[in-house]
Amino acid sequence: MYSEIVMDHFRNPRNVGHMENADGVGQVGNPKCGDIMKIYLKIKDELIEDVKFETFGCGSAIASSSMATELIKGKSIHEAVELTNKAVIEALGGLPPVKVHCSVLAEQAVKSALYDYAQKTNKVIKGLENYKAEDDEIHCQQ
Ligand code: FES
Repeated sequence: MYSEIVMDHFRNPRNVGHMENADGVGQVGNPKCGDIMKIYLKIKDELIEDVKFETFGCGSAIASSSMATELIKGKSIHEAVELTNKAVIEALGGLPPVKVHCSVLAEQAVKSALYDYAQKTNKVIKGLENYKAEDDEIHCQQ
């Protein structure tokens, strides 16, 4: 049912943990399953130098967060904002249809953290112009 890659990222998640003095922090939740994902970003010269996550959720959510952090580490904030849940699913070698929303949580947690960074630094990140922090809970209802 789950790919080897999903199992690997579930059993040995990359970049787990809390980050002190993060430049951007994003937290999203899915009201239906109650799962919560938090992403921390360390950003220098618009590059994501480091990223950590804490996920209180299912195995697919943990694997999705782990993969999402791997996909954006070392990338620019403008590349990271384009990360889609589809890219996360592809990199994971697929997710069962009922678990697609878990990858949406990862995409939205990254966007939420980037939005937080943009707010704190007065930057405009293309693709986040209409983002509203209070929408975080709503973003993940699928
Ligand atoms: Fe809710 Fe996976 S079941 S994030």
